Amino acid sequence: MQGRFISFEGPDGAGKTSVISAIQEWLTQKYGKQAVLLTREPGGNRISEQIRQILFDDHNTNMDARTEALLFAAARRQHIVEDIEPALQAGKFVLSDRYVDSSVAYQGGGRHLGADDIWELNQFAIHGLLPDLTIYLDIPSELGLERISKHRQNQVNRLDREKLRFHQDVRNAYLTLAQRHQKRIQLIDASQPLPTVINMVQEMIQNRFNLE
Ligand SMILES: Nc1ncnc2c1ncn2[C@@H]1O[C@H](COP(=O)(O)OP(=O)(O)OP(=O)(O)O)[C@@H](O)[C@H]1O
Ligand SMILES: [Mg+2]
Repeated sequence: MQGRFISFEGPDGAGKTSVISAIQEWLTQKYGKQAVLLTREPGGNRISEQIRQILFDDHNTNMDARTEALLFAAARRQHIVEDIEPALQAGKFVLSDRYVDSSVAYQGGGRHLGADDIWELNQFAIHGLLPDLTIYLDIPSELGLERISKHRQNQVNRLDREKLRFHQDVRNAYLTLAQRHQKRIQLIDASQPLPTVINMVQEMIQNRFNLE
């Protein structure tokens, strides 16, 4: 039996975590709890969670961008071997909150390491395992940032402008990926209301895998 691997991508605030949990609920109701694995990057298992702690440790302000890219790739490798592949072999739907495209967009685009180099680096880590379907939630950068800082006052300072540029670089890298991998990556306009976005994603999954 072979499962189905679906990754969810998009810049900060696009709605990945919101959409993926609705999709998990929907698939669980259809096929049962055992049929679905919801997981996130970087993380999933003990080793990947330990790498995640290094990546997100506030003390590691001196981390080199290439070190960061290598650590993400290492966490991804372990996530594949311990979590994703066993679930696929058991015939499950694997829903991953971020996967390889996040590295290309954030380290390649956002941190300017180059999309092609980061893609190449990650080929070693993923060893051929690409998602059957990637849902890319596309959102204008201003709106994405607004969503994640909603409760804060709407004043724009220097840091916010830097954040905006970073967010735009990430989005542009995603858009280039979506162009290059048109069959795998499906773009959804995530500026629409959440229920609309969820419906569109459901339809996309239904069509791609011929679900009832
Ligand atoms: N379509 C939408 N319309 C309006 N608000 C939304 C929509 N989707 C998500 N939100 C809200 O925007 C915020 C960010 O959503 P969410 O955490 O799902 O995004 P994310 O893509 O997972 O972000 P991150 O990359 O930071 O994890 C949440 O407060 C969520 O309720
Ligand atoms: Mg999230």
